[in-house]
Amino acid sequence: MSFAPDTQLGPYKIISLIGSGGMGEVYRARDTRLLRDVALKVLPASFTNDPDRLRRFEQEARAVAALNHPNIVSVYDVGNSGGVHYIVSELLEGETLRQRITPTGMPSRKAIELAVQLANGLAAAHEQGIVHRDLKPENLFITRAGRLKILDFGLAKLRRERAIDETVGSKTAAQTEAGQVLGTAGYMSPEQVKGEAADHRSDIFSFGSIFYEMLNGQRAFKRNTSAETMTAILNEDPPEFSLKSGAIPPALERIVRHCMEKQPGQRFQSAHDIAFDLESLSTTCTCRAAVARRRSCLRRVVKAEHAGASSQAAPHNVSQRDHLERALHA
Ligand SMILES: Nc1ncnc2c1ncn2[C@@H]1O[C@H](COP(=O)(O)OP(=O)(O)OP(=O)(O)O)[C@@H](O)[C@H]1O
Ligand SMILES: [Mg+2]
Repeated sequence: MSFAPDTQLGPYKIISLIGSGGMGEVYRARDTRLLRDVALKVLPASFTNDPDRLRRFEQEARAVAALNHPNIVSVYDVGNSGGVHYIVSELLEGETLRQRITPTGMPSRKAIELAVQLANGLAAAHEQGIVHRDLKPENLFITRAGRLKILDFGLAKLRRERAIDETVGSKTAAQTEAGQVLGTAGYMSPEQVKGEAADHRSDIFSFGSIFYEMLNGQRAFKRNTSAETMTAILNEDPPEFSLKSGAIPPALERIVRHCMEKQPGQRFQSAHDIAFDLESLSTTCTCRAAVARRRSCLRRVVKAEHAGASSQAAPHNVSQRDHLERALHA
């Protein structure tokens, strides 16, 4: 059901539809008390008809609201108006990561910068015992200022519970999720595919799949059907890295593959560790780039000095030239 502009839901007045996904529609709305625009997500009735489930969802929303981290969207409110349940969060301006990923992948420096932000947001949530379970490029927002924000914490749990409710016969929860509801099998962890318990290390696997796609422009496990994709997640390694967006440092490829180990115990055990390794890597890259830049600058100066010496156009300082030459070869 779509809501027309000016429809009032509690203290919020609908302005326009932003978009819709598997868990309802997202609207730009006006908070008439605080006089600011917000993002209001209306949850479909089929997801909210079980009071216990709804209570647990509200609990999780409260936990996410308490996180207050720059890389996690701020949750302002959860509410219900005439049986319509909604969740209100900060209104973001920008685009999703999905819109940023091109078929050739992004430069590794940019991908690392975004991945560090994602890892930091995840680490903050995981430290509070909150697991996302549905990380995918559609749920990662990049603001105009370049800040990455994780969206939709807590919703995957609600969706999964409904999927289990609807499971019939011999289908597992994961098959139901992927085939009927989730539609995002490409980023599931092996344990999610098998319908086993998924802890924070499941998010780490999804993080690896997203990071792989950012760098390569292609999904790590892209197949024609959800069933084939899930089989690949269980049994196959992601393909070799493509070199379309330039050379990917081997250390970076090792980090991505380490996130995507099939066994949770073999992966990075915390998002905090991933952020640390990525930051060290980008510092090394930046240092190398700075050394290269300094060398090329010195080379230009030495060349100019030599040119000056041979033309006799200006008096030259031999000791200064020697100093420059030594610096260049240091
Ligand atoms: N806080 C927000 N500010 C601005 N836009 C948002 C906000 N939250 C969601 N959106 C946008 O609303 C649209 C719909 O989001 P929604 O989460 O419903 O879809 P989805 O992520 O594709 O699917 P799913 O239901 O699996 O999460 C997306 O384009 C998303 O970027
Ligand atoms: Mg979403």
